[in-house]
Amino acid sequence: MDVFEAIDTLISIRRIRETPVEEWKIERILSAAVKAPSGANTQPWEFIVVKDLEIKKQIAEINRRGASIYVKARVVKLEPKRRQYLEACLQRMHNIPVMIILCLNREKKLVNRPKGFEKASEKMEDIVSYASVFPAMQNLLLAARALDLGCWITMYHLYFEDEFRHLLNIPSNVEPLAVINIGYPMGRFKPAQRRPYSKVTHINRW
Ligand SMILES: Cc1cc2nc3c(=O)[nH]c(=O)nc-3n(C[C@H](O)[C@H](O)[C@H](O)COP(=O)(O)O)c2cc1C
Repeated sequence: MDVFEAIDTLISIRRIRETPVEEWKIERILSAAVKAPSGANTQPWEFIVVKDLEIKKQIAEINRRGASIYVKARVVKLEPKRRQYLEACLQRMHNIPVMIILCLNREKKLVNRPKGFEKASEKMEDIVSYASVFPAMQNLLLAARALDLGCWITMYHLYFEDEFRHLLNIPSNVEPLAVINIGYPMGRFKPAQRRPYSKVTHINRW
């Protein structure tokens, strides 16, 4: 598949078939993920591939609890139909064949915080750290798309991060950032609906 076709049709797939995903496809998308750029090539990503049904059930349960907090806390409320749809997807989440947990390994500190630049350094550290992991997620999503696999990102576990960390035995210097739920879509891929670049691009000055 042409890379532009993959980009233009990369949408969230929340309704996912139980059909198992071929091992070679999981390996291929992970090998695409680790080709991503990162600050000073630190490659601070780590992945946990979960296929065990009991663990998936517990991940799904944590996500359901987190999602109910999220749904109530939303500034722009979800329409009842959208909420029901999300709840139905969450009810079936454990049947999704593969979950890849994207993690940031904070161990690899790049620079110290020079005097007078403590605040800026802290911000820079955070931005560079997260920005050094999410390109790997995008590579993963695109590679999955190219292999006809759909992905659903969830972050509801962040409301219960300690519990989630405990469940998956994640060490304290590693942050579980996202659950990427992967499998064959029930529906079809469609063009992504986004604002055109002309609405968000400034020429020479803001
Ligand atoms: C960083 C990030 C976090 C996301 N978290 C969630 C999530 O917790 N639950 C969810 O249903 N979708 C999540 N998504 C998917 C977005 O809701 C989705 O990309 C966006 O609404 C656009 O919809 P589309 O991909 O179907 O075009 C997340 C996406 C990103 C990039």
